[in-house]
Amino acid sequence: MSPEAEIRRRIGEQGRITFSEFMELALFWPQGGYYLSPGTLEASGDYYTSPQAHPAFAALLAVQLLQMWSLLDEPDPFTVVEIGAGNGLLCRDLVAYSCHLPQAFRRALRYLCLDRNLASGLEQEVFTGNGAAVGRVAASIIASGPASTGQPEAAGLPLRGIRGCFLSNELLDAFPVHQVTKVDGRLLEVYVTLRDGELATVTAAPSTPMLVARLESLRVELIEGQTAEINLGIDSWARQVAGALEAGFVLTIDYGHQAEELYSAERRLRGTLTTYFRHTQTDSPLRRIGRQDITAQVDFTSAQELGEQAGLDVLGLTNQSRFLGNLGLQIYQERVLQQGLTRRQIQANRTAMMDLVRPGGLGDFKVLAQGKNVGRPELWGFGSSGFPKEVEAIACELPVPILATGHLPLLESRFPHVEMEFDESWSLTGDVSHQESP
Ligand SMILES: C[S@@+](CC[C@H](N)C(=O)[O-])C[C@H]1O[C@@H](n2cnc3c(N)ncnc32)[C@H](O)[C@@H]1O
Repeated sequence: MSPEAEIRRRIGEQGRITFSEFMELALFWPQGGYYLSPGTLEASGDYYTSPQAHPAFAALLAVQLLQMWSLLDEPDPFTVVEIGAGNGLLCRDLVAYSCHLPQAFRRALRYLCLDRNLASGLEQEVFTGNGAAVGRVAASIIASGPASTGQPEAAGLPLRGIRGCFLSNELLDAFPVHQVTKVDGRLLEVYVTLRDGELATVTAAPSTPMLVARLESLRVELIEGQTAEINLGIDSWARQVAGALEAGFVLTIDYGHQAEELYSAERRLRGTLTTYFRHTQTDSPLRRIGRQDITAQVDFTSAQELGEQAGLDVLGLTNQSRFLGNLGLQIYQERVLQQGLTRRQIQANRTAMMDLVRPGGLGDFKVLAQGKNVGRPELWGFGSSGFPKEVEAIACELPVPILATGHLPLLESRFPHVEMEFDESWSLTGDVSHQESP
């Protein structure tokens, strides 16, 4: 049965379902839910993420993990658990790059990929980086939301006593969200129902007191007519990650804002829920069910506060541009010129690296670091005064990560003319990501 058929069946039975239950079914229904369909996890799908843009993203995360390992007194194993690992590209690039890092680190590194997509085949694979670092890859599920989503609580994280780091890139924005709106001074919830045989939305009293409680705890008051999304899955994620971690770090990369900004009526009166179909923002969640991505920006205040309640200290919150800059991205960008690459390869690599830090794009993503039983260390990616000398040494000496198959051919898709002819006089020093294609 398709997700749409299941949605219609439930509405037939109950009259309406919450938007969160609708989103859960559209994205994760076992027969044809968006994230569980073959092809969704391929780089050419509907969304574009940092691991697909350039392997420098994975390489710089490896450098940050090296410091975390050192802060934990170099445990062996040092376990990295990537939740929502998708097609495993970040894991592959990160484990491969760790071969250039100290031998004791790469020997200690264990990398575990978890994803709700059990069909990805990831559990079959064991990545070996040059025979030294081993990332064991398996697949599993964590609960994405409490029972109020209408879904049974998922199996949860099957891990305990982890010393290492929980890592995620664009996981929390894929959790189903509830939608609320203010009408005649009352907070109402948005439901999905059937009207004349078509899916439509309707508002009614909230399905759970957790929605009002969340807004109260954030001290957010919606104005009349304002719509907003509430991600209750963050609570379960924080509790499970904190429960599985004995000592170490949680590094969360996603797009979103602190609550004050996210729920600002001036900037986001209609909320942030959106849909992507073939790399195009379509903003029509009730259409193309199971064939398009549905996502909402992450509330980083809740990620921090719920993390604190679960025992995770906030170690830093910054944006991806500063984070990667602090880990030496600019040095790699400059060194691309000295790698004996063709001009086209140089341009493609520099364009993709720029994209990782582009304002208004991936550069504005947030990076949140939390810690458990690690004190309050300053992490390299979060310093306020540039990169430390260890980072500079690494970035100057280690190989420059270079685009390979598996990454998006960003240059060609942004600037189609370079497929046909490449202008040798094109500047190699400018900010190529801002050049216009003719
Ligand atoms: C937007 S994709 C990001 C994939 C990858 N991290 C990347 O950066 O390319 C979100 C991924 O998170 C997975 N996911 C969503 N909710 C999850 C959950 N509760 N537990 C585990 N994986 C989840 C989805 O199946 C999907 O592979």
